[in-house]
Amino acid sequence: MIRSLPKMHGHSLCERILLHTGKGFITMSEPPLDHILQVGLGFWASKTLLSAVEMELFTELAKHPQDLESLRGRLGLHPRSARDFLDALVALGLLERRDHQYFNTASTDFFLDKRKPSYVGGVLEMANLRLYPFWNHLTAALRTGEPQNETKDGGPNFFSALYADAERLRGFLKAMTGLSKEANRIIASRFPWKNYAAVLDVGTAQGDLIVQVALANPHISGIGFDLPEVAPIFEDYVAVNGLSSRVVFHAGSFFRDPLPNADVVMMGHILHDWSLEEKQLLIRKAYEALPSGGALIVYESIIDDDRSENAFGLLMSLNMLIETPAGFDYTAADCMGWMKEAGFRETRKEHLLGPDSMVVGFK
Ligand SMILES: C[S@@+](CC[C@H](N)C(=O)[O-])C[C@H]1O[C@@H](n2cnc3c(N)ncnc32)[C@H](O)[C@@H]1O
Repeated sequence: MIRSLPKMHGHSLCERILLHTGKGFITMSEPPLDHILQVGLGFWASKTLLSAVEMELFTELAKHPQDLESLRGRLGLHPRSARDFLDALVALGLLERRDHQYFNTASTDFFLDKRKPSYVGGVLEMANLRLYPFWNHLTAALRTGEPQNETKDGGPNFFSALYADAERLRGFLKAMTGLSKEANRIIASRFPWKNYAAVLDVGTAQGDLIVQVALANPHISGIGFDLPEVAPIFEDYVAVNGLSSRVVFHAGSFFRDPLPNADVVMMGHILHDWSLEEKQLLIRKAYEALPSGGALIVYESIIDDDRSENAFGLLMSLNMLIETPAGFDYTAADCMGWMKEAGFRETRKEHLLGPDSMVVGFK
């Protein structure tokens, strides 16, 4: 039985607790309980950020710093909530407060101001609207193996609706770019591109991966492959980056259609959406599109082989459980095994940044 729970402060949820073991009280050191509470109540912080994005707080503050009363009026906050809400965001490192004025931090200003091209809030808007309520049904997903999104009650598939609305699709694919850009730049600079000329990015979205590769390697010509609705969004992005003469769009479905031939095929955040058989099919299709000596680059939050460290990758896999009929994330060893089965002669894994790694197979 927990006898006392001292006040939360700073990043530490509790300094010390006394635990009754049946043989008297023992003192437990801070970190174990702190960690349990940080994880168990992690949704407090998560939902506070998601509501701030929903109310466009960071977009508002990007115009100019504001005090409590002004923000309260603009966001329509109740007097009871406003100060705690804003100061909680300060304590979470998402806002700053000086002389009674609230400011964005450098990173919330860059990533969460809706008017900037670097805005990634589209993904958080989606998380607020969809994933947050769907994850409430995680236990049901764990017991049944069934998705817990709109499709659960026969509702329209979110992604079909997204693809039917050009502006929403543009916002979503732009947000994908924001999330993938740093890893894309690392791939563009680290892979031995000088050995290759033609590159295919499968499930390219706005096309940032092929754009970064082409920007860093002027000898490369590229193809972005995706569903037809993506074409105008991809082409605008390629044009803005001055690459229209070297990087083109190829419309198709990677299940229905053959992949165009290329020296290197790339798949960023693609395989985890699909079942084992579909993953294996996509890897085989990539193999068929490559010449001898060609390479397949697969990248996403690849789980560590021991499945004990990359929590983001493992939680992403649970998100695939919630969102897809059969998708799951996987280890580098899994991916290398599928590549070997498809015929790739050599494989290797390289860490990119954060939870992301790439697995490369050479034909
Ligand atoms: C999660 S996004 C990944 C985007 C990008 N590669 C990245 O890493 O940021 C998945 C992409 O796969 C595309 N996609 C889904 N099903 C597809 C299909 N059957 N054929 C081609 N592309 C598809 C989607 O349109 C979307 O652009």
